[in-house]
Amino acid sequence: MSKAVSLSRKQVERFWRDMAVVNEGREFETDEQRQACKEAVKAMYDFAGAQIRSGIAWNWGLDMPEIDRRIEAAIPSYKSANTDGFSEQMYFFALQATGITDFSQTRLLDVGCGFGQGLNFLSRTTPVGEMVGLDLCQNAINYANARWARPGLAFVCGDAEKMPFGDGEIDAVINIESSHTYPDFGRFLSEVRRVLRPGGIFSFVDVFTEERCQRFDAMKAGSGFQWRQQTDITAQVKSAIVKRLQPDSFLRTTLKGQGGSKFGLHNLTEPLLLVNYGADFVDFRFSLAQRIFRSAVTRLLLRSMSAPEIKLTSYVHHLAVKT
Ligand SMILES: C[S@@+](CC[C@H](N)C(=O)[O-])C[C@H]1O[C@@H](n2cnc3c(N)ncnc32)[C@H](O)[C@@H]1O
Repeated sequence: MSKAVSLSRKQVERFWRDMAVVNEGREFETDEQRQACKEAVKAMYDFAGAQIRSGIAWNWGLDMPEIDRRIEAAIPSYKSANTDGFSEQMYFFALQATGITDFSQTRLLDVGCGFGQGLNFLSRTTPVGEMVGLDLCQNAINYANARWARPGLAFVCGDAEKMPFGDGEIDAVINIESSHTYPDFGRFLSEVRRVLRPGGIFSFVDVFTEERCQRFDAMKAGSGFQWRQQTDITAQVKSAIVKRLQPDSFLRTTLKGQGGSKFGLHNLTEPLLLVNYGADFVDFRFSLAQRIFRSAVTRLLLRSMSAPEIKLTSYVHHLAVKT
C-alpha cells in the first residue's frame, strides 16, 4: 500500500468541483461528466489509500455505548487490537440495523468497502453466510483480497452505479460513508434494488448536506423501496470524531507515526489530514499556527478553484426493504 501514487492539481480541482455538484443536490448533464467525476473520485481514493497503513479506519466512526457493549460481548477488548473501535461500531450498527437476527444464510454485500476491514471485522462478530465487498479502487480491493479474503469473504472491484452482480443475488446491502461521492445517486439506488432479492434489505449511513438530504427525500417515493427507518446519528458520529481529535488519541498518534513528521512539520500539516477525519464537521479549533498554515496551503494550492464550500450538516442512517 505504500506504492507511490500521485495526484495532480487538476484532479484535486475536479474532485472538489464535482463533489460540490453532488452534495449541493445538483445534477451532471452528461454521462461524460459523470464518468469524469468517477475518475476523479477514484484518483482521490487511490491517493488517500496509498497514504494509509492498516490500523487506520476509513469512516468517521460512531460512539454508541450500546453498540460498544454488544461488540465487547462478541469480541472482548476489541479496542486493544490496533484500533479505537469507532469505525467498527459504525459497521456493527449498520449490520444490526438490518433487523436480521440470523445471518447464517445471508449473502451480504458491502458497497464501497474500502480496504475490507469493515467486513472482516463483522465476520468476527457475526456468522454470515457469505460476504462480498465492492469498491471502485483497484488498489483497495487488491489489499483487501491479499489481507482478508477467504472462503465466504471476497472482494471485487467495481462501480456502485453498475454492479457486477446478477439480479436478485443479494440478501442485504450495507453502504458506509461512500454514497456522497457517487455522481448519480438515483442510478446507485436502482442498482441496489436490482441486485437485492425481493424483501432484501438496504442499510446505509452517510454524511449529508441539507440539499442532498432534500433531494434524497424527494427520490424515495419512486425508488421501489419501502423506506422503513431514518435515524439521525450526527451526535454519536461527532462524539467519535471529537474523541479521535484529542491530542493523544489513537488516530493522532497513529497518523504521527506514519509520516508527515519528516521535516518536523507534522504539527503544522496535521490539520490537512484531520479534516479527512471530520475535523470541520465538529468545527474543531486548530491552533493559530495550524490555522495560518492551513489557510496558506489551501490558498496556494487551490487558488483558482471555483468550488464553493460544502457544508455537511448531518450524518444519517437509512433502512429500506425492496418491495
Ligand atoms: C470513506 S471510504 C469508506 C470505506 C468503508 N466503507 C469504511 O467505512 O471503512 C469511501 C469508499 O467508497 C469508495 N467509492 C467511491 N465511489 C465509489 C463507487 N462509485 N463505487 C464503489 N465504491 C466507491 C471509495 O473508493 C472508498 O473506498
